[in-house]
Amino acid sequence: MNAQPELTILLSRDEIKMAVSRLAEEISREYHDKNPLLIGILTGAFVFLADLARSLDFPLEIAFIGASSYGEGTRPGALKITAEVPRDIAARHVLVVEDIVDTGHCTSFVLEHLGGMSPASLKLCSLLDKPQRRQEQVKIDYLGFTVPDKFLVGYGLDWNQKYRYLPDICYLEF
Ligand code: IMP
Ligand code: MG
Repeated sequence: MNAQPELTILLSRDEIKMAVSRLAEEISREYHDKNPLLIGILTGAFVFLADLARSLDFPLEIAFIGASSYGEGTRPGALKITAEVPRDIAARHVLVVEDIVDTGHCTSFVLEHLGGMSPASLKLCSLLDKPQRRQEQVKIDYLGFTVPDKFLVGYGLDWNQKYRYLPDICYLEF
């Protein structure tokens, strides 16, 4: 029989809401007159980007980009773009929106990829930072929370595609 993992709340919806408001204020100060392009990394960032964008009250645009690891047989950590950003980002002020920076591979790969497309500026906003597992250095310009080395789900984050819809961020115990 498959035991269901237990969920414990790490960050409640109210704590997340306050962090999103704080980040929105910080981002507004820099971007209010820049018509920025917010690019969410699929799929985990979709909830955070939706809440963040609705907390910003100046002109901006939204797009998504997909990135994932290659299948078995290639070197570990090798990544590919699975959904290209459907917009010319040259000369745009781009703010990448990520759910969590863990090892750092995915985010730095996406930043490098977008950086090659001549944006006017390129910065990173991540809701969560799990620094204990970092392998590649990533500069997070706007950060919600630093979190412990636990497996997190909810608010966009999944375990085997499950739990993305939960409004709180929880950790899984098996
Ligand atoms: P990276 O290890 O920094 O490359 O993270 C790659 C992606 O793995 C993140 O953008 C998340 O979508 C996902 N991820 C990392 N840590 C967790 C976690 O604790 N729960 C769910 N997804 C995670
Ligand atoms: Mg992600």
